Amino acid sequence: MLPRSAFGQTVLLICFLLFINQIVSYISFAIYVFEPHQQQINQLLAKQVRVVFIDIDDARLSPKMAKAFHNETDIGVYRESDAMSAGLANAIVYPYRSEQMSLLLGGPTEVRISDGDAYLFWIRAPQAPHLWVKIPINGMEKSSISPLIFFMVVIGLLSVLGGWLFVRQLNRPLKSLEIAAKNVGRGNFPDPLIECGTSEVMAVTQAFNQMSKGIKQLEEDRNLLMAGISHDLRTPLTRIRLASEMMNEQDAFLKEGIEIDIDDMNNIIDQFIDYIRHDSKDQAELGDLNELVEDVVNVETPNDRVIHIHRGECPKIPLRYVAVKRALANLIQNAIRYTEGEIDVFTGTEDNFAFIMVSDNGDGIPVSDIERLFQPFTQGDTARGAEGSGLGLAIIKRIVEAHGGYVSLLNKPSGGLQAKIYLPLTSK
Ligand SMILES: Nc1ncnc2c1ncn2[C@@H]1O[C@H](COP(=O)(O)OP(=O)(O)O)[C@@H](O)[C@H]1O
Ligand SMILES: [Mg+2]
Repeated sequence: MLPRSAFGQTVLLICFLLFINQIVSYISFAIYVFEPHQQQINQLLAKQVRVVFIDIDDARLSPKMAKAFHNETDIGVYRESDAMSAGLANAIVYPYRSEQMSLLLGGPTEVRISDGDAYLFWIRAPQAPHLWVKIPINGMEKSSISPLIFFMVVIGLLSVLGGWLFVRQLNRPLKSLEIAAKNVGRGNFPDPLIECGTSEVMAVTQAFNQMSKGIKQLEEDRNLLMAGISHDLRTPLTRIRLASEMMNEQDAFLKEGIEIDIDDMNNIIDQFIDYIRHDSKDQAELGDLNELVEDVVNVETPNDRVIHIHRGECPKIPLRYVAVKRALANLIQNAIRYTEGEIDVFTGTEDNFAFIMVSDNGDGIPVSDIERLFQPFTQGDTARGAEGSGLGLAIIKRIVEAHGGYVSLLNKPSGGLQAKIYLPLTSK
């Protein structure tokens, strides 16, 4: 129900406070200004009425005098029928005013008001119940309301504008924090953020900078460690291979086994190195996906397998070429290793993404396993006892996410797996 954004909430708060403010203002206005004002008008009206009827019984009241009075004040006395035609017919009865006038004039009084060019008060006084006194009052036009409304609208708009400026000021450092956090999530470590804004935001920024530095240090240490181990394993492997070359003919089957094992171990070390490699440091450059697919397929296709390429329309997109090649190579290697039959590779675009899809006709992957298999060092049942490190999908995910894209694995209804890499058409 309530708005989630800081801007929405601030505006809501301001509107709420403004509303209360206006109600209080309105009530105080009514009590301290409007009501006394009405009282004064009523008293003046009552005095006028008394003046009009001051000599009602005096037969000598000169018609000339009455006429002059009427001309000067525009106050007139009418019989009911004349009053009707002079505007009483359109006047509205005001019971509250009537009550107050009754008190002031000392008897039952009726007050009606009609508004035309000026407000006309029609009063039937207890002094002469068969007559109506008409008293015009200028300066009470309705138009006096509109500056008030205008004033309130302007205050409302100004408050919302103020809220907007305030929230924008507050949110700007938050926005850069958000961007920086996303970058850290992708393995890019941005320069420390400038600590600015309110003291709270500054404290968060400071904490974030520390965290980012810590993660960077951890990652560097880990990479150093993994690279060191991988490198140190390579040397003895080469020595073993050399030794196996020197084995005699009777042990050929043993030698072959050792060589296959050494190859596997080398592949696993390669995967290790791929996994820790810091591709995100390379700059992404505009590249052609179709070209990339062709490069990888040419290298990866074994003699006994067929891989079809189906080129789709695809503009050049920002790529870390070598890294994406490695990701695609991993997908194709999986399709080769875990399935038999032909493999299809498609390219194309979907919404704001370009995609490469590797489609095979194997057994696919149980849906419940997909999430898990993206973790490093996890393998499915099909891979039991086979070569491989369980790093392939983790490598793919890492590379693709560093591009701002994503990976999806889908089991085809007809059997087989559709592995799809989505890469954004434009860099963010
Ligand atoms: N095209 C595929 N068809 C069937 N299963 C697959 C396919 N690709 C991957 N898998 C399963 O996903 C698991 C994880 O793959 P991956 O991360 O590349 O590790 P690895 O290939 O080293 O085993 C594999 O062990 C395999 O069980
Ligand atoms: Mg693999």
